[in-house]
Amino acid sequence: MAAQDYPLNRRGFIKGATTTALVSSLAPSLVLGSSSNNPLGGGSRKKTFNFDAPYNRLGTNCVKWDSQLARFGSDKFEIGMGIADMDFKAAPCIGEALAERCQHENWGYLSSTESLKEAIKDWNQTRYGIDVSMESITIAAGVHPGLIAALKTVAPPGSKVLMNTPTYNGFYSDLRHSRTLANENKMLIDQDHSYHIDWDDFESRLNADTHAMLLCNPQNPTGNCWSESDLLRIGELCLKNEVTVLVDEIHCDFVMKGQKYTPFASLPDKAIVDNSLSFKAISKTFSISGMKNAYFYSTNPVLLNRVRKNHRADLNTLGLVANEAAYRRGADWLDQLLTYIDENHTFTESYIKQVLPEFRYKKAQGTYLAWLDTGDLNNHISATKNAEKLGLKSPEHYLEQWLIDNAHVQLNPGSNYGPGGDNHMRMNLATPRALIKDAIDKIADAVHTA
Ligand SMILES: Cc1ncc(COP(=O)(O)O)c(C=O)c1O
Repeated sequence: MAAQDYPLNRRGFIKGATTTALVSSLAPSLVLGSSSNNPLGGGSRKKTFNFDAPYNRLGTNCVKWDSQLARFGSDKFEIGMGIADMDFKAAPCIGEALAERCQHENWGYLSSTESLKEAIKDWNQTRYGIDVSMESITIAAGVHPGLIAALKTVAPPGSKVLMNTPTYNGFYSDLRHSRTLANENKMLIDQDHSYHIDWDDFESRLNADTHAMLLCNPQNPTGNCWSESDLLRIGELCLKNEVTVLVDEIHCDFVMKGQKYTPFASLPDKAIVDNSLSFKAISKTFSISGMKNAYFYSTNPVLLNRVRKNHRADLNTLGLVANEAAYRRGADWLDQLLTYIDENHTFTESYIKQVLPEFRYKKAQGTYLAWLDTGDLNNHISATKNAEKLGLKSPEHYLEQWLIDNAHVQLNPGSNYGPGGDNHMRMNLATPRALIKDAIDKIADAVHTA
């Protein structure tokens, strides 16, 4: 068995046992129709991808597995369900394009990104019907460098940046790099665990100190896909109050069945769209985040040119090759993956109900992230008191350590995502279903013996 074919679970990897056996032992109602048997679209597909196949990443210096092993030690850490990248083997078109480029052994400075821009234009047109002009596409070395340049352009140091929380924790580092401050509009949560904007609070935060909004669509960590009416209302209020909307749409390719991603740039109001910049990346969609590549655009050339003056893109050759190959030739792989991720969300929702009722999970609308309500366990293990006693950042950081000690599974603490993140943990579902089941089983065993 080749090293990469061993199962992901660290102990399973060491023992050489296979999780493939576990997959086939899942009750059919829980397997929910593996995508390999039920591809989208049918007909002309040439190749079927098997996302159930374990692909071991240990030893590749990756955050999701190797960093957690280093943090918690080999006797404690078994399964990493944290940082938002995927455990699957990447789309074959990416490796093929990289291998081809590697035939030419010179790696000097790049001259042009036009071909990648064409691929970006085509992808946005074909999948979302948005016409992004070639001139407006700006290639970046990641979403963060673009966001930081935009914040530096529109939000003076010391000013505030509006965000709906809980929100992507990386935004807080963008604020630090641009010397701006968070203006946190905490979302309202319904009985059924769905999230809504608190509009009264939102409006009250549009004050003279606030010049920018960081909007995440679909939203990390809640998975919310914002409706056209929500986006229009955000856009109108921001325009009226001279707040530029920076829309991070890095998760837009992950939308679950029956849900819809509405690109901010597609809103039917030119003034609102002109008051925004959109930030996207091929890297999240195809799990090539180590290749450091992203892009942004705007319909407002004046705003865009101001941002470009604060933006320096140091691009890398292999990153461009991988990203272009993914957009040009990876659609079929992604469509099959989407079915699999959708089923992972459905499986997680129903399996948690069945074996871990102390947690609550409502299937996300978008992203491959599950936002788990862990409030009952926080209470049961006195997470608030224990976190204080141990001097930890938050009860959710205590819960992270508790889960490592008792279940050997790593999840991300909800408090990392700002106000509203309390009593929650984030779990990454972009992994073979058997591993999700294994992680939930381990957590359930730990909770039921606590
Ligand atoms: C909402 C969001 N924006 C940006 C990023 C990071 O983007 P990049 O690696 O391109 O800087 C992530 C990564 O998880 C994310 O979830």
